[in-house]
Amino acid sequence: MMPHVMEALDADFTVHRLWEAEDRDALLAKVGPAVRAIGTNGHLGASAALMDALPNLEIIGCYGVGVDSIDLPHAAKRNVIVTNTPDVLNDDVANMAIALLLATSRRICVGDRYVRDGRWLEANMPLTRSIRGKTLGILGLGRIGKDIATKAAVFGMEISYHGRSRQSDVPYRYYDDLVAMARDCDYLVAICPGGEATRNIVDRAVVDALGPEGVLINVARGSVVDEPALVAALQEGRLGGAGLDVFAEEPKVPEALLTMDQVVLQPHAASATAETRHAMGDLVVKNLRAHFAGQPVLTPVQ
Ligand code: NAP
Ligand code: 8YV
Repeated sequence: MMPHVMEALDADFTVHRLWEAEDRDALLAKVGPAVRAIGTNGHLGASAALMDALPNLEIIGCYGVGVDSIDLPHAAKRNVIVTNTPDVLNDDVANMAIALLLATSRRICVGDRYVRDGRWLEANMPLTRSIRGKTLGILGLGRIGKDIATKAAVFGMEISYHGRSRQSDVPYRYYDDLVAMARDCDYLVAICPGGEATRNIVDRAVVDALGPEGVLINVARGSVVDEPALVAALQEGRLGGAGLDVFAEEPKVPEALLTMDQVVLQPHAASATAETRHAMGDLVVKNLRAHFAGQPVLTPVQ
């Protein structure tokens, strides 16, 4: 977490830095019974084994909104509160989705390389694509998905969405079938939770339905997309392009993607602005402080 978060935690708590320990098992064996809280993030999460090494655990504060790497059923069984950082990151994560939409459609990174490589001196770059009038399908019209929809509408896009249920209070077209939505849209943005329920939900059928002119943007989790199917579709021209912030085995990225001009890659950076990470860190600290002051936490997951 950011230095100011660590300072705030150090001020109020005795902090044991598990990630810095040479022998993590030894540290857990030594301090485990004294530990009442875990501070973690969306990558590291908290396994059942870690929780069980901490018999007096009361709360897990996650620096991130996605909690798919925390064993929630086990936390519930242990009566451990889990908190996350919803809403404070909506704007920047939605902005990253829009940035990837524009970067893929307008070939921003290709243009940048075109200028740097001196190719502009020889010829003009081929024309790119406008997003105005195009259809955007959103997989997961939640807090962030709604923000993406609002922003994309300003760019003149038609919005549709897929989730487990229709939402009565939104003006967008609902699809109960993801393949059908992909078939009808030009761009598909994934922004649903990760975990088993959504594993590989964007599979070969969805990618093929998007088609050779279609673009997939993934700002959700790598697990949501069948990565080998995505890579194959891009290689074979069955999918037009992709803007990817998240991957199946971060920080590893499939080698084949690295040389593709129709792909824009980011290092899981959608919430990674100083302002948003600051707000996320503050919320982690506020949740922990509230709990240990005997008050309800601000943003409980469960
Ligand atoms: P949220 O408000 O809970 O929204 C999640 C949406 O996904 C809901 O609309 C939900 O609709 C839908 N959904 C849930 N399960 C589904 C399923 N099995 N199939 C289809 N749709 C499903 O969450 P949020 O705050 O917007 O965050 C969404 C996710 O974005 C996080 O969980 C995290 O993984 C990811 N994220 C990534 C970054 C990044 O750095 N790239 C940053 C922040 C968040 P229904 O309930 O109707 O299905
Ligand atoms: C973080 C995220 O980068 O909030 C999420 O779900 O994926 C990102 O905001 C991640 O949690 C690591 O801290």
